[in-house]
Amino acid sequence: MIRAVPIGAGHYLPKNVVTNSELAKTVDTSDDWIVTRTGIQQRHFAADGEYTSDLAIAAAKDALENAGIEASDIDSIILATSTPDQTFPSTATKVQAGLGMTSGFAFDVQAVCAGFAFAMTTANSLIVAGQSKRALVIGAETFSRIMDWEDRTTCVLFGDGAGAVILEAQECEGTPNDRGILACELSSDGNYNDLLYVDGGVSSTQTTGVLRMQGQEVFKHAVSKLAAAGETAMERAGVTSDDVDWVVPHQANLRIIKSTAKKMGVPMEKVVLTVHNHGNTSAASIPLALSVAVKSGQIKRGNLVLTEAIGGGLAWGAVVFRW
Ligand code: ACO
Repeated sequence: MIRAVPIGAGHYLPKNVVTNSELAKTVDTSDDWIVTRTGIQQRHFAADGEYTSDLAIAAAKDALENAGIEASDIDSIILATSTPDQTFPSTATKVQAGLGMTSGFAFDVQAVCAGFAFAMTTANSLIVAGQSKRALVIGAETFSRIMDWEDRTTCVLFGDGAGAVILEAQECEGTPNDRGILACELSSDGNYNDLLYVDGGVSSTQTTGVLRMQGQEVFKHAVSKLAAAGETAMERAGVTSDDVDWVVPHQANLRIIKSTAKKMGVPMEKVVLTVHNHGNTSAASIPLALSVAVKSGQIKRGNLVLTEAIGGGLAWGAVVFRW
């Protein structure tokens, strides 16, 4: 059978690093409050004139180099973002042009913080269906552009960044020992739109809007939904939490990450953590963390990896793959 096998990962973080203490100079907050509630110590912010596509292109180039292939070897780009450069065209097509590609297809996926799970699942389906041989899957965000800097309950949580993974169609045995994507699980429930949203948009206000969140309500849903998605994906893949080498969770909040790992029966030693350095980078957080873990040698070829994410919608999902 054909599976979508990861052959490279890359990431990019804007140069401007803002620590909690620096943020506390302009926002009524403290390093202690942010670290205790979220685990976040610092985040990166894109420079003026630095767009989501710029971050995505830099991450994509890093992933291509990691995979040892050229942009012309890619035939599809699936980019998860809620902070596109423009309303249209898709940021993915800007990345396609930025990489010098003149063939293949590119489009955006929008599932907020769960975007990378949705993008990976979409890429997997395209590869298994024979529509794509090599897909570049990117998560890229500039959430600093949709913050209400007067709202200290949200503006301290988010950062900017991009990560990318390249998936290649490969013939596999069809067992859980295969490399590649073994199972995906996606869910959403639009009845929870009001828990996490941006208060503007093209067809409603004709403005961009800023992020609004009922943090405690999101927290309540996060742990149970993430653990359930992770367990379903593992079952579908024919593996258990004992088989998992690494969990790469959406990096929103250390308390959510710890509670979810505990609920799934995975010890924290097996959890990749970047939230302290990156903050919540929405759809970029999983590929960023994955790339950091691959480059640092934490995740090695053949390791079984579980990713899980939840965000606005609510939308959530999990993907199990062997690196
Ligand atoms: N600095 C200092 N004090 C603050 C800050 C801040 N940045 N923000 C809020 N406070 C104060 C509040 O005003 C309140 O003060 P009061 O008791 O005097 O009224 C107090 O801290 C407690 O506020 P809560 O909102 O109850 O704080 P809580 O413990 O719920 O923590 C948080 C807030 C961190 C947002 C938490 O609810 C959370 O982690 N939620 C998960 C949501 C999340 O991570 N979302 C990310 C996007 S979705 C996703 O990616 C999963």
